[in-house]
Amino acid sequence: MSKAKLQHVTLVGHMGSGKSTIGPLLGSLMDFGHVDLDVVIANRAGRSIGVIFEEKGEKVFRDLEEQALKSKISSLDPLVISTGGGIVERTSNRKLLKEESLVVWLRADIEALVKRVSRHSLRPLLKGKDPLEVLTQLDEERASLYEDLADIEIDTSNMKPSNVSELLFDSLKSHLGVENE
Ligand code: S3P
Repeated sequence: MSKAKLQHVTLVGHMGSGKSTIGPLLGSLMDFGHVDLDVVIANRAGRSIGVIFEEKGEKVFRDLEEQALKSKISSLDPLVISTGGGIVERTSNRKLLKEESLVVWLRADIEALVKRVSRHSLRPLLKGKDPLEVLTQLDEERASLYEDLADIEIDTSNMKPSNVSELLFDSLKSHLGVENE
């Protein structure tokens, strides 16, 4: 993609919406670097997200998440940034996302999300809980926050990640006002 008009692209949405899978695919289509904030946080802390929640609690995790977003979004090179589902909880994060990036909301039906998160159940917010209940509750709290932020939204419920990233690539080209070189 032409580098004439560059802006970070951030992927937001619930756990299981595909942010971590689609991020690298989209990054390579766009010729942008890709970072996953959960990976940044875990690397910096030297422990997994689950262990951070267990040992330090959610507030410390949210502080680390905010720091990771701030540092990556200030990168001079354009990035595709996969965020964690809770990035929208803090007003300061929402402000940064809105001002410094083009925000893509990856949506999916709760049933599709439940199916996907049940395959990898390492997420601390789901530990020992019914994923359907947790995701339904989170949807009530967060769906309008994702919606308010989104420059682009796409329903990934019945789509393969490669198709989602290709559709997004086309849509982003027109949003960023650039054509292929
Ligand atoms: C969280 C989502 C997770 C991770 C953490 C908290 C959330 O990321 O950041 O477990 O609050 O929804 P994914 O959305 O990539 O699962």
